[in-house]
Amino acid sequence: MASLYVVLSLFMPVLVAYLMVASASNFYNDFDITWGDGRARILNNGQLLTLGLDKASGSGFQSRNQYLFGKIDMQLKLVPGNSAGTVTAYYLSSKGSTWDEIDFEFLGNLSGDPYILHTNVFSQGKGNREQQFYLWFDPTADFHTYSILWNPQRIIFSVDGTPIREFKNLESMGVPFPKNQAMRIYSSLWNADDWATRGGLVKTDWSQAPFTASYRNFNANACVWSNGVSSCGTNSSPSTSRTNSWLSEELDSTSEEKLQWVRKNYMIYNYCTDAKRFPQGFPPECKLS
Ligand SMILES: *[C@@H]1O[C@H](CO)[C@@H](O)[C@H](O)[C@H]1NC(C)=O
Repeated sequence: MASLYVVLSLFMPVLVAYLMVASASNFYNDFDITWGDGRARILNNGQLLTLGLDKASGSGFQSRNQYLFGKIDMQLKLVPGNSAGTVTAYYLSSKGSTWDEIDFEFLGNLSGDPYILHTNVFSQGKGNREQQFYLWFDPTADFHTYSILWNPQRIIFSVDGTPIREFKNLESMGVPFPKNQAMRIYSSLWNADDWATRGGLVKTDWSQAPFTASYRNFNANACVWSNGVSSCGTNSSPSTSRTNSWLSEELDSTSEEKLQWVRKNYMIYNYCTDAKRFPQGFPPECKLS
């Protein structure tokens, strides 16, 4: 009995540690650092990735896989302190002149002043669908989960499980929807002090460099697209098996209420209410809400 106890107490931590590592994502497997000459780094055996920015350069990475639909989570901890002028972009994008894109961009600020979370959706090369938010927490103090649910019916942006934006498939109203082009995940940290903070009024303070943003716990429930074949089956009617329930996921009434709470309290810009921009009338998707 005593020896069994000794064996268990010796090996349980090893087993538990092994299972945790085996189930966690690994940045070495899923991503490539694409630019920044050593400013982007994968650390802790692939559990952590950091991007750096200094006066000479920013840095970035991209996913190895291309995805055609998915529910993709990443935890980010943004540049702390005086991050004014810096932008951390985290997005999905396809290639070519009529590309599709789903964007999160985090616009830094002076210490204590709020970051802006900027979002956009491009379909077939056309964006102009910005919505911006403040967050209900300090995104530099800790890691938070930023998620994109992308299925054939809708795109939902979420923060810590709270939906902040929904872009529905309104092809029936003539609005193109991203659904035919596979996308990679991209992220970069760069200097945008010509526009990012208070519209470009506040410049990057290079005495604070290097600036660092951190990433962990990447998780993708997604259809991987490779050589014209989807890991989820036929592209036009992806199989909605139990494990791929996200492929038909929609907002339930609780989530819908949370979304309205965010819109009411934290949304600071919505292209759908910016009449100056659309003298000929709002885009069709705006007329719904
Ligand atoms: C930065 O702080 C100012 C002042 O509170 C605010 O108006 C602005 O929206 C904040 N965010 C950015 C990215 O400019």
